[in-house]
Amino acid sequence: MDDQKQIQEFEARIERGEKIEPKDWMPERYRRQLIRMISQHAHSEVVGMLPEGNLITRAPSLKRKLVLLAKVQDEAGHGLYLYCAAETLGVDRSELIGQLLAGKAKYSSIFNYPTLTWADIGVIGWLVDGAAIVNQTMLAKASYGPYSRAMIRICKEENFHKRQGYEIVATMAKGTPEQKRMVQDAVNRWWQPSLMMFGPHDTDSPNSAELMRWQVKTKSNDELRQRFVNLTVPQAQAVGLTLPDPDLRYNDETGNWEFGEIDWEEFWAVVRGNGPMNKERMQARREAHQEGRWVREAAEAYARKRHQPKAG
Ligand code: 3HC
Repeated sequence: MDDQKQIQEFEARIERGEKIEPKDWMPERYRRQLIRMISQHAHSEVVGMLPEGNLITRAPSLKRKLVLLAKVQDEAGHGLYLYCAAETLGVDRSELIGQLLAGKAKYSSIFNYPTLTWADIGVIGWLVDGAAIVNQTMLAKASYGPYSRAMIRICKEENFHKRQGYEIVATMAKGTPEQKRMVQDAVNRWWQPSLMMFGPHDTDSPNSAELMRWQVKTKSNDELRQRFVNLTVPQAQAVGLTLPDPDLRYNDETGNWEFGEIDWEEFWAVVRGNGPMNKERMQARREAHQEGRWVREAAEAYARKRHQPKAG
């Protein structure tokens, strides 16, 4: 058990708005929670490359292909930042990746849905990266220094991701009738899964209370989800697209867009590995890890050679 006095001093530091750094004392629970959250975030970034990667060779123009390539590469970089942030807590990324590949670690449910048309690339940038920005802007204020600093850099790139997506959506929404139908179909498929990215309701969130007490999260799952809906409805209206929710209505008193209940049965099925694309995503990650083995071995051999004491 950690000394009660140390915990009080730790929590007083957080109350004063101080950042907790890797070498600072922290409760073991705080460290374990951060490893869980940051590693799953990193896994999500890398798995998140797969749905969009599926459309790189199908981009409608060289310009669209260049933008999508840049975005997918950014996601790989986000994964690397976040594995580095997790490693400041005394774990090794090989252990974290091993947990993912063994099916013992989660990644975001959103990446277990198929990308069927080019419109999906626009809608993912607009809705999925848009949801990520709402979440990550909050995490940029997290009490753990390395995580909050990684978020600041990532949020800058996410804003580009969202803008390029929304530009694709706007272009298709005012394009041919077939393009408008295609982008509306993509919105219909990605809207609910995007709401699920924020996690279960606060009342069903076993981690939130502790994460909020220690200001890793400064807003709850439901608060962030509501903020995302409030931002997104006017954006959909601006390009003449309909969000697939008959219960969507504006509440003048609260200033919120109220929305219908999420299909939590689907959510938990996807989180437990039974979503439309879970098996394909994990197979792709396992194959990539196996194919990349020689790169890791070469890098490790080079690092050993460089750190060998000079003879003579
Ligand atoms: N997908 C998969 N698992 C989810 C989930 C989701 N959308 N939402 C919640 N869960 C899991 C949690 O991991 C937890 O399981 P665990 O205890 O075994 O880890 C369980 O469901 C209960 O959820 P809680 O609300 O108690 O969990 P958290 O307090 O950790 O909240 C979270 C969940 C909101 C995802 C939070 O962990 C978080 O903010 N994580 C950091 C951000 C992140 O991971 N985003 C993922 C998307 S990455 C991305 O957007 C890339 C961008 O480029 C598109």
